[in-house]
Amino acid sequence: MRYVNLANVTPGMKLGTEVYDSYGRVLLGGKAELTQEYIDKLIYYGFDGVYISDSLSKDISIEPIITPALRGQGIDCVRRQDIEGCKAVAKEMVSEIMKKGSISLDMQDLRECDDYTYSHSVNVALYSAIVALSMGMDEKSLEEMALAGLLHDLGKMSIPDEILNKEGRLTQEEYQIMKSHAKISYDYLKERWDIAPNVKVAVLYHHENVDGSGYPSGIKGDEMTLYTKIIHVADVFDALLSKRPYKKPYSAYEVSEYMMGACGIMFDQQVVQALLKHVPLYPKGSEMIMSDGRHCILVENKDMNNVRPIVRLMDGTTLNLLDQENFNITLVSAADSGSFSIESEEERSVMISDFTKYKVMVVDDMMTNLQMIRGILDYLYDLTLVKSGNQALKYLQKNETVDAIVMDVDMPDMDGIETARKIKEELHKDIPLLFVTTLNDMETVEKCRAVGADGYILRPYQPTFIKSELKRIITGRGDAE
Ligand SMILES: [Fe+2]
Repeated sequence: MRYVNLANVTPGMKLGTEVYDSYGRVLLGGKAELTQEYIDKLIYYGFDGVYISDSLSKDISIEPIITPALRGQGIDCVRRQDIEGCKAVAKEMVSEIMKKGSISLDMQDLRECDDYTYSHSVNVALYSAIVALSMGMDEKSLEEMALAGLLHDLGKMSIPDEILNKEGRLTQEEYQIMKSHAKISYDYLKERWDIAPNVKVAVLYHHENVDGSGYPSGIKGDEMTLYTKIIHVADVFDALLSKRPYKKPYSAYEVSEYMMGACGIMFDQQVVQALLKHVPLYPKGSEMIMSDGRHCILVENKDMNNVRPIVRLMDGTTLNLLDQENFNITLVSAADSGSFSIESEEERSVMISDFTKYKVMVVDDMMTNLQMIRGILDYLYDLTLVKSGNQALKYLQKNETVDAIVMDVDMPDMDGIETARKIKEELHKDIPLLFVTTLNDMETVEKCRAVGADGYILRPYQPTFIKSELKRIITGRGDAE
């Protein structure tokens, strides 16, 4: 079977797998032939795509890690805030995971988007348990990890929908309300003797970053438990893969890139590695576009981080990209998830049509760094590139202000920290600021913070991460929420 975006599904196609509603009830049977009525119904329910079975894909089998029935049960328990039920689901989930010989997260979620919090909780439980397994933790710990995943966002049910699903930027006040959900989740559980302290702590701190920039308490990596680090990684991983009212889903490739880019800033590296061991860059059954423009379907990955998989062209020809004769071909983008160039084109057209091209100043003494940033951000922003802190100050004195600054920390004469201080104190400008640095030491981080930086990125950085961070500091909302 293969994944097909609903926009490309036509009557007569046969489903490759059942389609369930958020209660775990079968909406359409596994071999159902799709009619226009069914397709309309799927669109109405908010599905993005379905798995279909055809002659091109009949040898591609993709298994969910947990049964749809258990997934439905998990969603239902979270929805009803049934903690006893969640405990049973966590136990069963671990038992199903441990029965699997190998775990490859190929299957895409077909879920309905208005049930985000519930299905997200089940996914976080699943990913947390998989990471725990991958890190050699025992069965009891796996169950506790899964339980923490199911319960971590219970507090979101106290947050008004207008804030949870708001498409635009959250106000400061709304963001404070949003952030309170971690503590509310913890408050539900704190009096319960039958829930392990490790689970409660992980729930409370699931939005903490290893560099101390998270919430509610701003604790750092060495103060975080392994459970806390795992649930944070699982939470963001699922958020990035998901479609939300304010963002498109990232492809597996982009998510992997983002997660690696945020190691040492948001995440613990070992935890990220343990997760990515199970995440294929190109999931089986997904449609991709190759560098020669042809479309293909992913048939088989030899291992998780394989960039040369076996693919099938739309005329049925199977190609092994590892074969020497195919070395001139690469996979460039997902055909229907809108990654890379397709996404870039969409982002570009949105920016142009809305006339909201934000102004961003980039300050770096190295020409190669400026060029690299220009390559990544040029189509998204109105860029001004300057080579020193002094030039940046002069520009800001003479010109209209900018919407954000991306600045190198380590520059001769006047470093980034000093430049930022002068912008604030001498020019009295409060501009969102993202630092770029090769120095991953606490002292630099503290200095960046002290001068009011909104974020910082370590070199070498991943393009997806810098794009997302810049968007976050300008709009107040990132892709990882
Ligand atoms: Fe959360």
